[in-house]
Amino acid sequence: MFPALPFRLFVNPTPGLPGLVVLPEAGFRRARATITAWPGYAPSPLRALDAAAAAAGIAVLAVKDETARLGLASFKALGGAYAVGEALADARARDPAGRFTVTAATDGNHGRAVAWGARLAGAACVIFLHAAVSPERARAIAAEGAVLRIVAGSYDDAVRAAADAAAQEGFLLISDTSWQGYTETPRRVMQGYRVLAEEALTQFAAAHGGPPSHVFVQAGVGGLAASMSVQCRAQCRPAPALIVCEPEGAACLLASAEAGEWRALPAAPDTLMAGLACGEPSLLAFQELGRAAHGFMAIPDAVIGPALRLLAGAGIVAGDSAVAGLAACLLAAADPAARAALGLSEAARVLVIATEGATDPARYEALAGFAPGGLPPDGRM
Ligand SMILES: Cc1ncc(COP(=O)(O)O)c(C=O)c1O
Repeated sequence: MFPALPFRLFVNPTPGLPGLVVLPEAGFRRARATITAWPGYAPSPLRALDAAAAAAGIAVLAVKDETARLGLASFKALGGAYAVGEALADARARDPAGRFTVTAATDGNHGRAVAWGARLAGAACVIFLHAAVSPERARAIAAEGAVLRIVAGSYDDAVRAAADAAAQEGFLLISDTSWQGYTETPRRVMQGYRVLAEEALTQFAAAHGGPPSHVFVQAGVGGLAASMSVQCRAQCRPAPALIVCEPEGAACLLASAEAGEWRALPAAPDTLMAGLACGEPSLLAFQELGRAAHGFMAIPDAVIGPALRLLAGAGIVAGDSAVAGLAACLLAAADPAARAALGLSEAARVLVIATEGATDPARYEALAGFAPGGLPPDGRM
């Protein structure tokens, strides 16, 4: 049994179509054509967690497994590396003889994706990390040839440092989050993520005879969740109910949804889910999710260990930021009020995404209780 842990659920009182088209279809077609032509591109697998679905009292629980995507251990290259290629193409069109440096802030995966994209495209790369990013994750970024700059504070502070450096040193800023006046590159990042979303929805329909009824997707700044939301509406009739899942210590999208407007958290994010430790939603993401999302959940870090063990039992070695959607689904499914509020019945067909592999092996071992590749000794969650 998945442990009963406390969570917060905010059901969107005024769901509806977003007033703005955040991700136009032409941009997605371009991203899909580019990404699916990359050497090494292949759709990631969709796996059914039948025992967990039965235990949760739902019909289907399927997990999109991004743990090995492009050899980079997360879905992030679909967005970051694609946006690097597009930004460099624009820059080289303006200045064919120019030598360009791309830059980004990261808590691990986005920086690795940007560094990989820069290396493939023959550009220099400077990545901003905050001090809490683990040495293993920093090493993986440096191994792609990026120069690392460490800044004090949180992910949100690293985002500001990267933006300042871009302005002062002429770097091309490849941010996965957006703000007023800076939307073009993050929009491309999100269009890249839609490749994952389209793959998952196509695979789900083929394996389970129709679209999911619910998608539980974890959020940091919300780019992935918003991409998923847009693609659900583009591809599924009816569109599944989408639930945005955040750590309790970094629930900036839930706070914004409750307030009915964009909000930054008053305190620094505090969670072991490193990729979700964001205190400020992406403007574009909130423009989509504020209306289109069905609900917002905030869950405690105590879910990570049981969820990693559940996935290990199914042969998936995931990371700390990979499991929030799965865990939120299982918490909601075990709670009668949440089941009712979200329409999670015995017929529910749920899609979740394991968004990263064990990119920080030491943290994996501390949270799961065994090293990556191991199994729960007694099958316990
Ligand atoms: C593994 C993982 N999952 C999910 C996310 C959330 O993506 P977003 O920040 O677009 O919401 C991230 C972000 O870095 C991540 O690294």
